[in-house]
Amino acid sequence: MKLAARIARIGPSPTLHITATAKAMTSQGLDVVDFAAGEPAWDTPDFVKAAAKAAIDAGFTKYTPVGGIPELKAAIVHKLARDHGVQYDPSQIIVSCGAKHALYNLAQVLFDPGDEVIIPAPYWVSYPEIVRLADATPVFLPTQESMQYAIDPKALEACITPQTKALILNSPCNPTGTLYTRQTLEAVATIALRHNLIIISDEIYETLVYDGAQHISPISLTPDLLAQTVVVNGVSKSFAMTGWRIGYAAGPQDIITAMTHLQSQSTSNPSSIAQKAALAALQSDGTFCHTLVADLIRKRDFMIQQLNTMPGITCPLPSGTFYAFPNVSALLGRESRQGPLHTPSDLATYLLHEAHVACVPGEPFGATQHLRLSYTGDWEVLKRGLARMEAAIRALT
Ligand SMILES: Cc1ncc(COP(=O)(O)O)c(C=O)c1O
Repeated sequence: MKLAARIARIGPSPTLHITATAKAMTSQGLDVVDFAAGEPAWDTPDFVKAAAKAAIDAGFTKYTPVGGIPELKAAIVHKLARDHGVQYDPSQIIVSCGAKHALYNLAQVLFDPGDEVIIPAPYWVSYPEIVRLADATPVFLPTQESMQYAIDPKALEACITPQTKALILNSPCNPTGTLYTRQTLEAVATIALRHNLIIISDEIYETLVYDGAQHISPISLTPDLLAQTVVVNGVSKSFAMTGWRIGYAAGPQDIITAMTHLQSQSTSNPSSIAQKAALAALQSDGTFCHTLVADLIRKRDFMIQQLNTMPGITCPLPSGTFYAFPNVSALLGRESRQGPLHTPSDLATYLLHEAHVACVPGEPFGATQHLRLSYTGDWEVLKRGLARMEAAIRALT
């Protein structure tokens, strides 16, 4: 079958692929430790489930307005005003089927062939593909581990051409765990304003920040940015609701209206029941997030400490998300029982088959010297996986 050219431009999500391989090995009876997951291991909180059950019992099971129910939009408006001091109108909000769907809709309504979109690397795997699906071109802006992956304003300026349309920011960042400082964001904002770039600010890990660090949204920096910034967020990570598929975008009204038109001709509204669940999550008092963060900090500290005791691995302490992003460059070129390890992918494959530990290699994130490991699992799983990983690393020659 001859398929459309656009689908040949992209591949399946590599993170979902690795998780699927680990699950397939588990279903064959193998004890696989999954450090590849992109979601909290925690269950969705009971009060969120109760809201969904109540919605079903009340018969709230029909189509809703395409861009989301008014009360959910109002809760998002309230959240953005509370957290960032910016007052949006509900017409500037769209609720979609996850933050990924919001990003997809956004790219479809913003980009034309020939447009360039700057993506700081390392980056979340889906950004380049979402840009390519919109016929635009991703332009990667390298950042350095030694500089905590901060954006270098000079390097950013050097990426800008007359075709540059937008810049994608993700703070805290998947996979590096980096949180952009106010200084970095202000420098980026000045450049974006000077070159009239749209800022797409993906804030999906916003609540998962540690050690007193503070997430800063570009929209809180200056009102001048509001006309050219779209914030993308959702409940997936902060409320352990990845399967419910609720995300949202907030931005200039013409962009949001266009996204709503697109959504009306594709998915229509996100699930009515999941919207009620997301409403309960956004209206909650923050206890769940605080407890989740407290648990994640202890697990982060343990995983980073263990990784740093493994020969050939160094891992900085991430300020946010639930990912460790160890540098494994000293292991590349070493020999395993399955052959030489040239790349992070070789190492990840070795660890999966030798130690039954699943982690994600750096390449799909634009990183050729790193692995990504999630520390969201149970303590026992964490300890078992890291012990097995260490044994497999020490077995390399
Ligand atoms: C940086 C980033 N943005 C967006 C998403 C997608 O979130 P959602 O599950 O709400 O679609 C993810 C999920 O892994 C992510 O890591």
